[in-house]
Amino acid sequence: MDGTGQELGTLEELPPDYVDQLTKQYAAPAWPSLRDIIPYDRPVCRTQPHIWRYADLRPLLMRAGELTPMEKAERRVLMLSNPGLEPAPFATAGIFFGLQLILPGEMAPNHKHSPSAVRLIVEGEGGTTTVEGERCPMEKGDVILTPSGLWHEHEHLGAGPMIWLDALDAPVVVPLEASYCVAGTPQRPGNQPDASQTRYRRSGLVPYDGLGRPANDYPLKRYPWVEVRAALLDMAAGAGSADPVHLAYVNPETGHECMPILGFSAIMLRPGEERRLPRRSASTGYLAVEGEGETEIDGTSMSWQENDVFVGPTHAAIRHRNGSSKNPAFLIQVDEGPMQRKLGYYEEFEITD
Ligand SMILES: [Fe+2]
Repeated sequence: MDGTGQELGTLEELPPDYVDQLTKQYAAPAWPSLRDIIPYDRPVCRTQPHIWRYADLRPLLMRAGELTPMEKAERRVLMLSNPGLEPAPFATAGIFFGLQLILPGEMAPNHKHSPSAVRLIVEGEGGTTTVEGERCPMEKGDVILTPSGLWHEHEHLGAGPMIWLDALDAPVVVPLEASYCVAGTPQRPGNQPDASQTRYRRSGLVPYDGLGRPANDYPLKRYPWVEVRAALLDMAAGAGSADPVHLAYVNPETGHECMPILGFSAIMLRPGEERRLPRRSASTGYLAVEGEGETEIDGTSMSWQENDVFVGPTHAAIRHRNGSSKNPAFLIQVDEGPMQRKLGYYEEFEITD
């Protein structure tokens, strides 16, 4: 019996010879499994609320640095695999998360691929990502875009490990059998600082020479954390105490989300703040950039500290709490809202209880 009171027929009710004949034709009746594909009221979710603690993963990532040279890895990444999605190495049904390490003097060679990737910088100084000839410094909390089809390579000329969280839309691209990669020769980046330091220095200002021309898809590759953090603090100072302090990363020429499939945004939780979010049709992942706290997702409570990564499924009830009564906490949120909005099925549900 399903939500309509209607009882759908089962496979067992059908004559075995009929089922056999269908099977031989690579066909099957829909009605016995219809509610698995399109259930009433809420999707079937295999993604579980889950947290990956940096204190546990960092030593394993450093061990990978000892065990596997860059030539054997191409990208030295530990994939964060949701226990509900095994064997797929995805953090949620829509988000791939991987922790990537490069060591001093190493280079992750130039390539491009059909899935888009975004780097959320976790630790280290002196690393750079070069995207289509634009060299972007990697500083803690920075968000750096390497969109689909754009050449990118990573280099580390500093000291100590350089670690970041990769966020890819691979769970969307791989099942569509459209995921592939092309190797390139090393790029020759210019000496010019990246566009966040030159052409797109402040929101509300764009280069005059672009007026009247079609907007660029990715005019800004790097969103420096130092500026995002300051903007969140300024927003909090001007907002009512009940208002959310939440900023989205957007294309400065269009105001639209910075990437086509995955959305990126930064949240500040005021000291002691507890915030309940409306349930949304997108799955969600978080990187704790600064501070400590607790997040409850569909009844599962997870306490987090700096650099921890945690996720929840689509349609989840989410509540964040800053664990400090003195200091703000900062999260970067990732979700597949942009894709869902384009496809016309993004929803937010009112908080009702
Ligand atoms: Fe890549």
